[in-house]
Amino acid sequence: MSRAVQVALIGQKFMGRAHSNAWSQVNHFFELACTAERHTVAARDAREIEAFAKHWGWKKWTTDWRTLAADDEIELVDVGTPNDVHAEQAIAMLEASKHVACEKPLAGSLADARAMRDAAKKAKRKAKTFVWYNYRRCPAVGLAWKLVQAGRIGRVYHVRAHYLQSWGGADTPLLWRFQKKHAGTGAHGDLNAHIVDLARFLVGEEIAEIHGAIERTFVKERVIPGTKKKGKSDVDDCVLFLASFAGGATASFEATRLAHGHQNDNFIELNGEKGSLRFSFEDMNVLWFCDGTQPLETRGWQRIMSTSAAGGHPYAKHWWPDAHVLGYEHGFVNMAADILRVLGGEAPELPLPDFEDAYQTQRVLEAALVSARERTAIQLSDVR
Ligand SMILES: NC(=O)c1ccc[n+]([C@@H]2O[C@H](COP(=O)([O-])OP(=O)(O)OC[C@H]3O[C@@H](n4cnc5c(N)ncnc54)[C@H](O)[C@@H]3O)[C@@H](O)[C@H]2O)c1
Repeated sequence: MSRAVQVALIGQKFMGRAHSNAWSQVNHFFELACTAERHTVAARDAREIEAFAKHWGWKKWTTDWRTLAADDEIELVDVGTPNDVHAEQAIAMLEASKHVACEKPLAGSLADARAMRDAAKKAKRKAKTFVWYNYRRCPAVGLAWKLVQAGRIGRVYHVRAHYLQSWGGADTPLLWRFQKKHAGTGAHGDLNAHIVDLARFLVGEEIAEIHGAIERTFVKERVIPGTKKKGKSDVDDCVLFLASFAGGATASFEATRLAHGHQNDNFIELNGEKGSLRFSFEDMNVLWFCDGTQPLETRGWQRIMSTSAAGGHPYAKHWWPDAHVLGYEHGFVNMAADILRVLGGEAPELPLPDFEDAYQTQRVLEAALVSARERTAIQLSDVR
């Protein structure tokens, strides 16, 4: 007998759609002790919310997210709103003993992220927390994690990661994502957040030092949507930084929204004493592996289609036959499955980031900004 988990969602645009799809698909593909029931969706736009709820199968809808806290039927609240409201919403739900699954970055500022981490610690006996670092749940990334864990690349020496997008420069209007008061940062919190999470996840160590960083804003004004007026675009367009891990591995991170030709180029490579691994989201079903212990005559990159259930590739057995490839939305469905597994007392297929974990990513992001602004190296132990 499965147990129904009543889920509420806040936010009904991009992530609202991705998460609604995940909650609606997860029990079609995964056999789990818990099922997800779409209870209530909350968002600000009174003109859109009813149609959204009906389209995605949410039983109820509201423009007042605060009412979710008082609803005893709701067990899990999923936060898919802009970064500046994550803290207020997540903390209110944790105080009402709801489990919370929050979008990334954990918050727009380190202070908010710390408050969320503290609230999660306080609510720990009653409520669990999750953060939607969805790229961990691409099967190829999961396979990379398994290979690192199994020692197949040995000690990690270098990590190089970039996340490049092309947003159309000054033509892109002044969305909340370009406003510091809502987003906190630009490409940094949006894109570097993902690759810092991936690097910490795959290496299995914390970042200990930022050695130097550059933060730049090239486009300083954008058209305010629905008007002809321009407003201030006051977040970074790109941030690049160098870091090292506690175990000594070196790392480079690079995020920009101004890279023509790169639409969603989330890339990470690990070079270790025994081999290398490489993943690029634009070819997300593939993991590249170079086994450095092979004879030189045949040593080289192996292209692994990471969709084989028989091969034990993460999540593969829940989907389609080999190489019937997965896409962006499957990472969210895989994550919804792991959240339900944890709520049902089972182990997730791959480790899930909680607020404490995402707070560590936020510390790295903050340290990189301080490094860029002060033009100096920063020890992570000084950033709390
Ligand atoms: N994991 C990923 O790959 C990924 C991708 C995109 C966005 N995100 C994250 O998801 C979050 C949402 O981004 P998005 O792209 O969906 O934004 P969006 O602008 O498409 O949607 C934001 C939604 O939040 C609602 N909202 C805004 N302020 C609110 C408030 N105070 N109370 C209630 N509802 C409010 C809006 O009405 C809208 O429905 C951000 O934190 C973003 O960084 C993650």
